[in-house]
Amino acid sequence: MEFVSKSFKETINFAENFAKALSAPKVVLLSGDLGAGKTTFAKGFARGLGVKEIITSPTFTLLNEYDCNPKLYHFDMYRLSSKEEAFELGFEDYFNKNDGIVLVEWAENVSGLITPPYILVKIDKISDNSRKINISEVLK
Ligand SMILES: Nc1ncnc2c1ncn2[C@@H]1O[C@H](COP(=O)(O)OP(=O)(O)O)[C@@H](O)[C@H]1O
Ligand SMILES: [Mg+2]
Repeated sequence: MEFVSKSFKETINFAENFAKALSAPKVVLLSGDLGAGKTTFAKGFARGLGVKEIITSPTFTLLNEYDCNPKLYHFDMYRLSSKEEAFELGFEDYFNKNDGIVLVEWAENVSGLITPPYILVKIDKISDNSRKINISEVLK
């Protein structure tokens, strides 16, 4: 599925509706360059799950957990220094819990640790305010 977003707000709305249509457990990976809109997508996504708080990227904590229904585990692996660090964080436990939705920014940094099935959301910057959002399902 492909969607072209023409503004920040359109990405928020798109991600919000996308999240509403998902059921747990689910793993969603966000891929795209810095400034592509991964955190923006995460904001709309969280809103779709009923999160009322302001979503920030867990750049320094690596993980933000939201007590919505289903639960949301928002990871940002940008500053991850090693795969060992991911293990220390108990990263793989969140995939085995099966009680919520795991959303991962910079999943490239933990490649090999995440196994299918998952949904891949690729965001590409087309111009200042437009983004191409490509969604695909990666099965086992
Ligand atoms: N159509 C759009 N969708 C998403 N973000 C957009 C769009 N147009 C402009 N932007 C801007 O691009 C930036 C995306 O930042 P962010 O979501 O933090 O990216 P990332 O997490 O991928 O580094 C924000 O400043 C946002 O306002
Ligand atoms: Mg981000």
